[in-house]
Amino acid sequence: MPGTCVIGLQWGDEAKGKVVDLLTDQHDIVVRYQGGANAGHTVVTGGQKFKLSLIPSGIFRPHVQCVVAGGVVINPQALLEEIDGLKRRGVTVGKNLMVSDRAHVIFPWHLEEDRLLDDCTGGEAIGTTLRGIGPCYRDKVGRSMAIRLGDLYQKNLRERIRRIAEAKQRMLAALADGAAIDALDGEAIYQRYAEYAERLRPYVADTTTYLLDAVDQDRRILFEGAQGTLLDIDHGTFPFVTSSNSSGGGVAAGSGVPPRYVTKVIGILKAYSTRVGGGPFPTEQDNEIGQHIRDRGDEYGTVTRRPRRCGWFDAVAARYTARLSGADVLAVMLLDVLSELPELMICVAYELDGQRIGHFPSQVDAVRRVVPIYETLPGWRQEITHVRRMDDLPENARRYLERISQLVGRPIEIASVGPDREQTIFASE
Ligand code: IMP
Repeated sequence: MPGTCVIGLQWGDEAKGKVVDLLTDQHDIVVRYQGGANAGHTVVTGGQKFKLSLIPSGIFRPHVQCVVAGGVVINPQALLEEIDGLKRRGVTVGKNLMVSDRAHVIFPWHLEEDRLLDDCTGGEAIGTTLRGIGPCYRDKVGRSMAIRLGDLYQKNLRERIRRIAEAKQRMLAALADGAAIDALDGEAIYQRYAEYAERLRPYVADTTTYLLDAVDQDRRILFEGAQGTLLDIDHGTFPFVTSSNSSGGGVAAGSGVPPRYVTKVIGILKAYSTRVGGGPFPTEQDNEIGQHIRDRGDEYGTVTRRPRRCGWFDAVAARYTARLSGADVLAVMLLDVLSELPELMICVAYELDGQRIGHFPSQVDAVRRVVPIYETLPGWRQEITHVRRMDDLPENARRYLERISQLVGRPIEIASVGPDREQTIFASE
């Protein structure tokens, strides 16, 4: 069974949605398996721009089954709004969408906890998307205050929600330390969630069994990663990370499909680097170059519209994440954004405490201290948005891609020169 997965190799926002959309036709099933409505992907199709958070990009092809697997955390209101928004614009959402009954549910207290705890890291804030993602995953691991989608259909739901709301109210009051917090009315929350549950009922299913059956039937599955490998809870720039395994390792845990069935990993990289929220970013350009990239690449968060921090391509980080996520090939996105720059820099190594190092440090303080060692490459200063073959790219653009491939140690299969499906170069063509 060809199981392909698309994984971001930076700090998220690598334009994975476009690659998933390109590959969807060659697959029967598209699966989201971690994260939640903190993720945002933009898909441009038929001249229309769609922003998706929870629903896989495969939703635009009615013959493709979309699965939101058990590793995802669900805000039912956000999911319903997304479904309604798609339907309003004529997109079919029915049996082609399945949501796992194992997925954990985000409640109002999670949003409040996210707000109260974000700047408790002792200095710099994580800068979460404030969507309650981390607190929901925390309750999942803690178990006693967690509610899964399937639980919304159990008889004891009212009692459970009331009990948890009371406990959370006490916890939140302590966290707020005298500051005002919203009252959690357990009964009102129950009423709201019971209604969401009814509306979501047609989509809720045991997706783990569905996917294991699909594996047995040799169906082609595309796994759509959210965020990027450097935001992985275990292997990213902790604590400035998201709360799930956004590296390749998360596919099996989040979907239930064993790792051996993921036969191809496509690592997605921007031709430069961006990051939203706090945390170290060695190649950040907090200057006119960063601003140029931000303007040209429209680098503002899909979910929060926060301006993204922008910087040069970091090959040390990318080599680490390509290995960590097991990328077989690379897709380099947004190459056209660099078109006007006379010179481009690639970080090829770091200097840490006076020593040259080639690996990505495990400790966030060390990542903060590293000084990037750059190689300068000439820019191409020509529009490339119309180019469709590698051979037709300006020589300096080809050299830039070749250097990235060499430094990361993986072949480039796709280069993207614009947001539309057509603005794509496949190395094989
Ligand atoms: P959380 O996932 O909302 O808890 O946020 C944790 C960190 O991950 C913050 O720095 C966010 O900005 C970042 N983050 C979460 N989701 C995304 C994403 O889809 N793209 C980029 N950054 C993200």
